[in-house]
Amino acid sequence: MDRIRIVGGERLTGTIPISGAKNAALPLMIASLLTRETLVLRNVPRLADVTLLGRILGNHGVDITVVGKKVGQATTDGQTFKLKSAEIVDTTAPYEMVSRMRASFWVLAPLLARCGEAKVSLPGGCAIGTRPVDLHLTTLEALGASIELEGGYVIAKAPKGLTGARVSLSKVSVGATHNALMAAVLARGDTLIENAAREPEVADVAICLKKMGAKIGGIGSATLEVEGVGHLHGAEHTVLPDRIETGTYAMAAAMTGGDVLLQNTRAELLESALDLLRSSGVEIEETPSGLRVARNGGGLRPVAVDTEPFPGFPTDLQAQLIALMCMAQGTSTVRETIFENRFMHVQELARLGARIDLRGDTAMVTGVQGLAGAQVMATDLRASVSLIIAGLAAKGETMIGRVYHLDRGFERIEDKLRQCGAHIERLSG
Ligand code: UD1
Repeated sequence: MDRIRIVGGERLTGTIPISGAKNAALPLMIASLLTRETLVLRNVPRLADVTLLGRILGNHGVDITVVGKKVGQATTDGQTFKLKSAEIVDTTAPYEMVSRMRASFWVLAPLLARCGEAKVSLPGGCAIGTRPVDLHLTTLEALGASIELEGGYVIAKAPKGLTGARVSLSKVSVGATHNALMAAVLARGDTLIENAAREPEVADVAICLKKMGAKIGGIGSATLEVEGVGHLHGAEHTVLPDRIETGTYAMAAAMTGGDVLLQNTRAELLESALDLLRSSGVEIEETPSGLRVARNGGGLRPVAVDTEPFPGFPTDLQAQLIALMCMAQGTSTVRETIFENRFMHVQELARLGARIDLRGDTAMVTGVQGLAGAQVMATDLRASVSLIIAGLAAKGETMIGRVYHLDRGFERIEDKLRQCGAHIERLSG
């Protein structure tokens, strides 16, 4: 199993190109199931989750071509995918695949909308308990589908097609909003999706669906109005920049007292996180070539923040923020309101010398003089990157195990950090 070795203590300085957003690329690829024609996606990140989803979609009959690199294109440029699902050859998404990536459950709505039936494995473990999909299922039922659970599978049927309806999500859910949208675009009549997720990735998918011929109003707001159409056609779309990658590198720069230019990204995608960093004393400047993030000598002030659905502070940056606040002068309060059990990084950060007191859904992080390198274990995608940025600031050697989590969501992370002066390497085996 690969490990990452970091010798910390260097300031990060230089330029980091930001990749296309994983959380938009995945549902955009899934949207290709909605049409027989070709969907061209640009700026697709090179990530293990993208490869895995490609395999899952291939199983349903989607033909994916990766367009070769053009002359003059840099290796940092995203990939271009051509996805064509002329025929859906299989409407079943098996356990072996769906259990490896939760987002692959989202094939349910487009398969049902296009084929009138779908059989999709619940996404691993006791899915209806701790990792619920209840909102996805009630949404499809509201649109006229019959849903049965059998042997760990959701069997959804709508032989005469789906019918538009008013859907009010009882909780803001990114996945359930994608699901509702992809079901509604091909339904007969109008659908109103209330309490929809407003995450930029949801808006990006809606914009792409419009290019494919869908009729969607209220994009970017909590109420989406969809007028169903008979069929969708091909389109071309560029995946928006990854705001979580942007925020992560911004925090890495702040953590090491560095000065970094984040290219190909936009401040409005993560305004709340940038405001929080500014309030902590990090310098952030929007320039024509990207976001410049610096902390030159000044100390960090502690913060108090709750994770929230967009436009609030994202849960996907919570672990990185906790790592950063280990360097602040005072005690920060970070409350996790989206997921129950998302503090696995806390005990690993403690191995580096962090002082974090967990009280239920709240982490009290007291800044320390400095972190010291240690052996740590990555536990999930965002937790693992919090260990990387802590390792960059820690004195001495940090060895991070189980780094396969990182490859799911961060493209070429060692290269990007090394180019800014970090001592970081991957050890195979
Ligand atoms: C997406 C993101 C993930 C991010 C999360 C919250 C992708 C691929 N993943 O995950 O990175 O951390 O949004 O911003 O885009 N819930 C229910 N019932 C449901 C569905 C969700 O109760 O049917 C709950 C969840 O348990 C959680 C909350 O709703 O507490 C939000 O989850 P959701 O927005 O659905 O997360 P994902 O779409 O899975």
